[in-house]
Amino acid sequence: MSEEKKYTFPGKQVDVVWDERLCIHIAECGRSTGDLFVGGRQPWCRPDLVEAEEVIDVVERCPSGALTCDAKQTGYKESPGQDNAVTVSCNGPYFMRGDLDIEGAPGDMPGVAFRVALCRCGYSGNKPFCDNSHEKSGFRDYGAVGEKGEGLTSRGGTLAIKPLQDGPLSLTGNITLETGSGRIAWHGTRVALCRCGASENKPFCDGSHVAAGFKSDG
Ligand code: FES
Repeated sequence: MSEEKKYTFPGKQVDVVWDERLCIHIAECGRSTGDLFVGGRQPWCRPDLVEAEEVIDVVERCPSGALTCDAKQTGYKESPGQDNAVTVSCNGPYFMRGDLDIEGAPGDMPGVAFRVALCRCGYSGNKPFCDNSHEKSGFRDYGAVGEKGEGLTSRGGTLAIKPLQDGPLSLTGNITLETGSGRIAWHGTRVALCRCGASENKPFCDGSHVAAGFKSDG
């Protein structure tokens, strides 16, 4: 069953929904062991071949929010982890996890309330989401983070993400930044993250989007 670019794979206890608009083919699903997702099989996803817990576990690995579960019969509802974490990935997007509130995100993308990949190269045709344009554009940044931030006095809570017009991603809330190599690097409650790809102080915005002529709608 499909509606626009969303596809539902029904199961007796759990339906799996795949949102093509968000998928950047990281393959956490395809590489998972077991029979839930098998590339080349029709249908590719068969929720009834594994336990409902396994379906939920694999689906929640999806870092872009493209996969979600609809498990009304089990009472399952996805919930955020303890911290709001932003990974500055190597040559790719920001992977964010937590209690996410992305301004302007379509209401029919439930996955991005918990997991999302946001563009930081400036080239996505689906901003603020990553669409893998970083690969063609040759974007290069290993995801180092040079600052430590002011620290945190509490954890969790909502992370408000505001994509500023022709400017950076403005984040407000309890935030942890992780480098592309996996180091927990920065803690704070407010940050402007570069999304034009031009900052000399990545991942932080240094105002370079102005000289770069960055257009967030382009
Ligand atoms: S970081 Fe993936 S399209 Fe920009």
